[in-house]
Amino acid sequence: MAYLNENYLKLQAGYLFPEIARRVRQFLEKNPDAAKKLIRCGIGDVTEPLPQAAIDAMKRAADELGHRETFRGYGPEQGYDFLRSAIAQTDFRNRKVDIADDEIFVSDGSKCDCSFVLDILGDQNKVAVTDPVYPVYVDTNVMAGHTGSARKDGSFEGLVYLPCTAENNFVAEPPKEHVDVVYLCFPNNPTGAVASRDQLARWIEYARQHDALILFDAAYEAYISDPKIPHSIFEIKGALEHAMEFRSFSKIGGFTGVRCGYTVLPKTVLAKTESGKKLPLKPLWQRRWSTKSNSVSYPVQRAAEALYSPEGRKQCRTLIDHYMGNAKILRRTCEEIGLGVYGGENAPYIWVKTPAGLTSWQMFDRMLNEINVVITPGSGFGAQGEGYFRVSAFNSRENAEEVARRIKHFK
Ligand code: MLT
Repeated sequence: MAYLNENYLKLQAGYLFPEIARRVRQFLEKNPDAAKKLIRCGIGDVTEPLPQAAIDAMKRAADELGHRETFRGYGPEQGYDFLRSAIAQTDFRNRKVDIADDEIFVSDGSKCDCSFVLDILGDQNKVAVTDPVYPVYVDTNVMAGHTGSARKDGSFEGLVYLPCTAENNFVAEPPKEHVDVVYLCFPNNPTGAVASRDQLARWIEYARQHDALILFDAAYEAYISDPKIPHSIFEIKGALEHAMEFRSFSKIGGFTGVRCGYTVLPKTVLAKTESGKKLPLKPLWQRRWSTKSNSVSYPVQRAAEALYSPEGRKQCRTLIDHYMGNAKILRRTCEEIGLGVYGGENAPYIWVKTPAGLTSWQMFDRMLNEINVVITPGSGFGAQGEGYFRVSAFNSRENAEEVARRIKHFK
């Protein structure tokens, strides 16, 4: 009989969003009449149709595949040049960030990239995560055997947790101790917090002093409206030597179902061997993709490219403005009923303090039962998330307004 990966047995609960879906299913089985009224503000999944530019590009690409002269088989494992170049030029070089086309690696999304990156990092790394945290960073390290057992509060031995609280505006400062790898996510999922240039500069300085690698998740960067807030870690001096960035078209172009994202790994980022020899990480990442993947389908890459066309950019802006309009409505309503509200200004997530005495899951249950609204319990993102809940702004305007009306009557 084959041996199983026992690290999986350390994971205490199911992955957060399937767990929420399970509880909602259970509720609906008992309360079938609530199905029509139910509004989901839990998982951050987009609701609005794809930008027309992406649809047209996908159709054109499908037609190309239907003709011998324009048919394509396997594409380059790191993504087609047309897309890598559009990304590097528009998202970086146009913003005066010196990223080359071949430092872009196209993938089927950031969730996967955040876990795949462990393939090229040593098992002996000391890893830091924020608390609360996007659960993928933690669970994938558990699966890879980088942690000890789970503690009572759901945290794992062996990881360094950096508390993000109202006192530090949900932006962790670098730790006093040494870590080799740190995951940062800005705009933050789940708190909606953003990091200033100075705060990110302190992280890069830490990385420089400790020879650490920052894994920077910028999946929500397009939601930043404050011009002072950096969109990329590479806007910070020194980051080209110490960071890797994860980006996604999921929340920008409504691609959660289409699947496309990318990583940025500059040639100048080094990591060391056990014997202390410093080597660039990029060839390992290149090798990893060549061996384990054939990248994303041609029509999807053409659709992603179309998001960079003038009309594609306008259509993405309309989508983002729509979701941020929802965020404004939901944020204001939670404030009006006297709850402590964070985020939702440069991010599509609103992080809300539960009314006195309620745990995150109690709040989840009450909102589900009493107003038929699904939210995400803060404790699902880590021990410091206890006493908070997250409201996602990804919804139709009609639903966001209805949720606001129901929240107003929530006692
Ligand atoms: C979330 O709700 O946190 C996100 O949708 C999860 C994800 O993007 O994987």
